[in-house]
Amino acid sequence: MTDKTNPVDLITGHRRMRRNRKADWTRRMVQENRLTVDDLIWPIFVVPGSGIVEPIEAMPGVNRMSIDKAVEAAREAADLGIPALATFPNIEMSLRDETGSNSLAANNLINETTRAIKTAVPNIGVITDVALDPFTSHGHDGILRGGEIVNDETVAQIARAAVVQAEAGADIIAPSDMMDGRIGAIRAALDAAGHQDVGIMSYATKFASAFYGPYREAIGTGGLLKGDKKTYYIDPANGTEAMRDAALDVEEGADMLMVKPGLPYLDICWRMKESFGLPVFAYQVSGEYTMIKAAAANGWIDGERVMLETLLAFKRAGCDGILSYFAMDVARILAKRP
Ligand code: PBG
Repeated sequence: MTDKTNPVDLITGHRRMRRNRKADWTRRMVQENRLTVDDLIWPIFVVPGSGIVEPIEAMPGVNRMSIDKAVEAAREAADLGIPALATFPNIEMSLRDETGSNSLAANNLINETTRAIKTAVPNIGVITDVALDPFTSHGHDGILRGGEIVNDETVAQIARAAVVQAEAGADIIAPSDMMDGRIGAIRAALDAAGHQDVGIMSYATKFASAFYGPYREAIGTGGLLKGDKKTYYIDPANGTEAMRDAALDVEEGADMLMVKPGLPYLDICWRMKESFGLPVFAYQVSGEYTMIKAAAANGWIDGERVMLETLLAFKRAGCDGILSYFAMDVARILAKRP
C-alpha cells in the first residue's frame, strides 16, 4: 500500500480542522451555539389612542402601536414563544415637563400598556424602563436643574416610578438612565412596597452611543434633546470603567445585566458573563437594526442571514438573550425550522 501522506499532513501533524466541517450533518453536530426563541426579547413602541399602527421612518418594519394593537402584538409574540416584551412609550408632548412628572402617574401610557398586556396575555413577561427620557421636555434620562442632570433627585423619582410600574404589573424593571445608586434604591423601594418578586434588569453598561438615533425618532425625543448624555452614559472607549459600573449594580442587587448597544460591545458582554455569572443580555439597538435594514434594502447584504448571524454572535459572546427589533421576524423563521 502506497503511503498517501501529504505535505500538509506533515505540517499539521495529521490534524485537519476541516474534517468537522465537511458536511451539513457534521457541522450541525459540532455547532456550539444556537439561537432559540427563548433568547429573544421584543422591544415595542406605544402611542396614545386606539387602532394605531404607525410606521417609524428610521426603522423600516417597526411600528408605533396604540395599546389595543400592542396587546394583539403581545399575543402574537406569546404564541410564537417569545418570553418577554420591553415597552417604550411615545407620550404626548403636552405631558412632558422638566422633571418628567408623568412617569409617576399610575395611569400613564407605559403603565396602562402593562396593565392591558398583563390582563390579556398574562404568560408574556413585561419589562419596563424607568428612565425619564420619554417624559421629559428636554429628552434627558434624568431631572435637569441649572443645566445639570441631577443624580440623587432623579434616583428618588425613578425609584418611585418603579413601584408604580410594578403596581401596574411590570415583571422586570429595567432602568436605562445610568444614575449612580439607582439599582439599590429601586430594589429597596420595590421591597418596601411588597414587590419582592419584581426583578431588576440593569442597563449596567450603557454607552454614550451614536447608535440610538432612530430610537429617539421613535419616541419623539430626537428634536428635544439638548447637548448629549456623556455626563451619565459610559464613554465608548472605556471597558474597565464599564465593568466597575456593572459590579456596583451587581452589589446593589441587580438580577440581570444588560449591555447596550450590542454588537460593537461584544467584548463587554463576554467580560460581564465571565466576571459575574449573572444572566447577561445585549440590546441590539435601533441603529444596529437600521443599518442592517438599510443595507439589505439596497441589496448590498443578505438581510436575513446578517440578522441571524448578529444574533448568534451575541450567544457566542456569552449572552443569555438579546433585546432585538428583529425578534418577531426571527421567531417566525425559527418556528418554521424542524
Ligand atoms: C434612554 C433610552 C435609549 C434607548 C432606550 N432607552 C437611548 C437614548 O435615547 O439615549 C435606545 C434604544 C435603541 O436605540 O434601540 N433611556
